[in-house]
Amino acid sequence: ESSQLQLSPVTGKIGAEVSGIQLSGNLDASVVEEIHRALLTYKVLFFRGQHLDDAGQEAFAAQLGKPFAHPTVPTKPGSGYILELDSHHGGRATQWHTDVTFLDAYPKASILRGVVIPDAGGDTVWSNTVAAYESLTPELKDLADRLWSLHSNAFDYAAASRANVSAEEEAQYRKVFSSTVYETEHPVVRVHPETGEKSLLLGSFVKRILGVSASESIKLYEIFQEHVTRLENTVRWRWQEGDIVIWDNRATQHIAINDYGDAHRVVRRVTLEGDVPVAIDG
Ligand code: SIN
Repeated sequence: ESSQLQLSPVTGKIGAEVSGIQLSGNLDASVVEEIHRALLTYKVLFFRGQHLDDAGQEAFAAQLGKPFAHPTVPTKPGSGYILELDSHHGGRATQWHTDVTFLDAYPKASILRGVVIPDAGGDTVWSNTVAAYESLTPELKDLADRLWSLHSNAFDYAAASRANVSAEEEAQYRKVFSSTVYETEHPVVRVHPETGEKSLLLGSFVKRILGVSASESIKLYEIFQEHVTRLENTVRWRWQEGDIVIWDNRATQHIAINDYGDAHRVVRRVTLEGDVPVAIDG
């Protein structure tokens, strides 16, 4: 069967731009399956010029999986599942993370829409956490394979560098974000339920690595996370309004670059229900 999507890889390790498709309305099951397979391969898919509205974004997401509301941040009024990140209301994802990993079963994928994009800046960068794991030496893989970490939405925000974010807006957003505290333990290496690939499961919701001292936890985190953030494992996207980006939240981390000062940036996200991560030994 011939492919209906045109896929252009954006880097050698992660991300493909998809063209020749309009994501509005009911998609053919075969097209949805192609998007799904491309997502497993490239981990992030970029679709230019889609210009979906909230209902259109939700309808598209629902064809890929089961939409899942954020546990603490209220959905955008009038929508079922949309999480709005508005830079003028503290919504800046300024640290490397995987979405919502403070839950046992965290989302398998996210669908993000560019709504208001600064004239310059506000790009998002994704990392391939399978490639990050692969880039470890066998000795470090063995160590990572055995470690677990504690994830929470109530980590030490003050420790993070938050240039350009108004303290007041930030505090308000964080108050809502952590209004109910969640904690869970995940393996540092997750086996992907569909591809079987091993990936590093870390990101800013990690409060500490278990079984070592606090200072060892910080150092170990840095050793592994450095493989996630190295440029060779990443792709950077220059947004345009109307873009749709989907990522496999089981094989990536991402960060929104906070380089646009007071300019306005609004993106809207729908996440899809995922499952509890499985460690290497089951
Ligand atoms: C997110 O962390 O889900 C949003 C990323 C972005 O604002 O680009």
